[in-house]
Amino acid sequence: MNKRKGLFLTFEGPEASGKSSQILLLKKYLKKNKISFITTREPGGTKIAESLRNLILKVKSDISIEEEILMLMAARSHHINNIIIPALNQNKLVISDRFADSTFVYQGYVNKYGIQNAKKLHKNILNNFLPQKTFLFRLSTKLIISRLKKRKLKNKYDKLNKKFHDQVNQGYKIIYNKKRFINIDASKPINQIHKKIISHINSFI
Ligand code: TMP
Repeated sequence: MNKRKGLFLTFEGPEASGKSSQILLLKKYLKKNKISFITTREPGGTKIAESLRNLILKVKSDISIEEEILMLMAARSHHINNIIIPALNQNKLVISDRFADSTFVYQGYVNKYGIQNAKKLHKNILNNFLPQKTFLFRLSTKLIISRLKKRKLKNKYDKLNKKFHDQVNQGYKIIYNKKRFINIDASKPINQIHKKIISHINSFI
């Protein structure tokens, strides 16, 4: 765990696992309880990083995996330096919808850049900056696809391809570590998940 003020939490998991809806519920809870926080997301979080997000996640793009991962690192560096660290220094709770683990899984594992290679880049470029805790949403490929069918395609990774989602799930299994990750069964009712998340958060702050 990094020595720093504040608390940095991330939400990770496959497509349609309900992370963003849970972050919305959590925001309401934190506001009501006067807990000082910010929510953010990746790729993105700053103006520049959001512009990179649009380039990275375009449905039709011909960038190579190396170019994609370097753009993600640039976006993440800008996000860490301009949003995350300043908020942590003000002792805020920082909640990010995705972060470096997504790179380890999507670029490192699924797109075959290599998990260890992605981790090495993260170490060298971003000083291995990681969250203290990560809620890892778990959902079967069958449920991912049935949920995605009800949605409009948002980005190039929202595809209805069983193999792709199986690989994303497998990637998260590989990078899982007991110390930092908290498993969330994303097939459970929304309110039940919300209660589990706030009980964990209350135990950290
Ligand atoms: P989401 O915000 O709807 O979860 O979509 C973001 C997409 O970006 C998702 O498909 C995963 C992908 N992604 C990567 O491939 N690498 C990354 O490092 C991050 C943060 C996201």
